[in-house]
Amino acid sequence: APAAKIAPSMLSCDFACLASEAERMEKAGADWLHMDVMDGHFVPNLTIGAPVIESLRKHSSAFLDCHMMVSNPADYVAPFKKAGASQFCFHLETARDTWPELLRTVKDAGMRVAVAIKPGTPVEDVFPLVEHDPPVDMVLVMTVEPGFGGQKFMPEMMPKVEVLRKKYPELDIEVDGGLGPSTIDTASCAGANCIVAGSSVFGSSDPPATIAALRKSVVG
Ligand code: DX5
Ligand code: ZN
Repeated sequence: APAAKIAPSMLSCDFACLASEAERMEKAGADWLHMDVMDGHFVPNLTIGAPVIESLRKHSSAFLDCHMMVSNPADYVAPFKKAGASQFCFHLETARDTWPELLRTVKDAGMRVAVAIKPGTPVEDVFPLVEHDPPVDMVLVMTVEPGFGGQKFMPEMMPKVEVLRKKYPELDIEVDGGLGPSTIDTASCAGANCIVAGSSVFGSSDPPATIAALRKSVVG
C-alpha cells in the first residue's frame, strides 16, 4: 500500500491562530493539513473559503488537503488553485454528471484531485473515476456524515475501504471522521493510508505522540 499520510483536520484548531496552529501540526509530524471547506448548503455548517487558504499559504508551505463540502465545486477550482491549495477533493454527490470535466479542470489547474463519498453513497460509484483518464489521485471514504468534527467513527464504512484497497493496491485511500488511537487499527487494517484526525489530535495532551501512534498503525 502507498505511504501513510497523517492529516490533522484544522477544523479543530484555533482559527484565530491558524498560522501558528499549522506550524504546530507540522512540527508535530503532520504530512498534510486537512482543510474542511463548508458552504452552509452542502452541509449545515459554514467554515472557510479561498481567502483563508490564501492567507495560510503565505505562512506555510504545507500540503493543503482541501475537502470541498460545497454544492458547486467547479466554481471553486480556480480560486483554490490561486489561493495555494495542493489537493482538491470534491464530493461525488455534487458532481454526478459533471465529474469528468471537473477532474480534468482540477488536473489542468495543477492540483491533485480527489473524490469523497458520504456514508450513504455506494463505493462502486467511484470506480469510474479511479479508472478514468486522468484518474483521481485519492478516494476519501467518509466515516461520519460530513459537517462537524468530533463525531463517532462508523466502522460499517470499512467494507468500502476494503473493496477499494483490494481493487486498487496503489490508490491513496483517505478516511475522515472519528479517527484516533482507538479507531485507527480498524481503518488501517481495512487498507486506509491517508488518515484525517481532528479532535483526537487537537484534543490530545501530546499531539506529536498521537500523530506518531496513528502513523505506526498505518505502517505496521
Ligand atoms: C467533518 C470533516 C472532518 C472533521 C473530522 O465533516 O470532514 O474532517 O473535521 O474531525 P474529527 O476527527 O474530530 O472527527
Ligand atoms: Zn474533512
